[in-house]
Amino acid sequence: MRRKIIAGNWKMHKTIAEAVAFIEVLGKNFPRQIDIEAWIAPPFTALEASASLVKELGLHIPIGGQNMHEAAHGAFTGEISGTMLKEVGCSFCILGHSERRHLFYETDQLINAKVRRALEIGLTPILCIGEKEQERERGEYMGVMELQLAAGLAGIETSLLQRVVIAYEPVWAIGTGKTATPEIAQETHRRIRLFLAKRWGESMGKQLSILYGGSVKKENIEALLGQPDIDGALIGGASLEAEQFIEIIKKVAKQ
Ligand code: PGA
Repeated sequence: MRRKIIAGNWKMHKTIAEAVAFIEVLGKNFPRQIDIEAWIAPPFTALEASASLVKELGLHIPIGGQNMHEAAHGAFTGEISGTMLKEVGCSFCILGHSERRHLFYETDQLINAKVRRALEIGLTPILCIGEKEQERERGEYMGVMELQLAAGLAGIETSLLQRVVIAYEPVWAIGTGKTATPEIAQETHRRIRLFLAKRWGESMGKQLSILYGGSVKKENIEALLGQPDIDGALIGGASLEAEQFIEIIKKVAKQ
């Protein structure tokens, strides 16, 4: 059974006080005993407070980073290591997000080093992949994604690969309000799964959770998650308000 996950990516939003207020609302209204996991990725400064509060309130909501450095430690001014993320209570980390790839020039090789480090220290990586608008229009999207997957997951042994979560986020859909239709998302997820199976064996294609991301909101979550190869969502904008985040989860969770 693949894990079903709704992950909120807060990006550079929320102070500690705002993160705490959000989680307090979850504490009062979050549905218990559901068949779907809710994960949250606050900014670095709010990680510790978020992880402690989630624990204190008895919420089963994993907290994770939005990025990490690939080295264990060292002279890397301004960077944060995976071990530091774990120390403040993180259990996962988003890696290779399109904003990291395009605004901060992260390469597939660098992202691969980060994924490997995360797995080595016991953090679950959410590896983000996705094509740009022109690549979709030119029909090159699968080639792009196959390269991102092959490079991003290179050199990782199968037993560790099983712990990776993939997020398919078409660049043209992130923060634009232009969601991929459920049909486009499903077709792409299915082809990603086929590629994983071809490259790493059938069970990898069947077992890995693949989340969809890009302008997911309460109005489109059900149609997206109704597709057989979509196991969840990575949500930016619509994850910033607690009520809306809860509503999204309630729409797709079975209690
Ligand atoms: P969005 O962001 O939901 O605001 O489009 C998704 C993401 O960047 O993960």
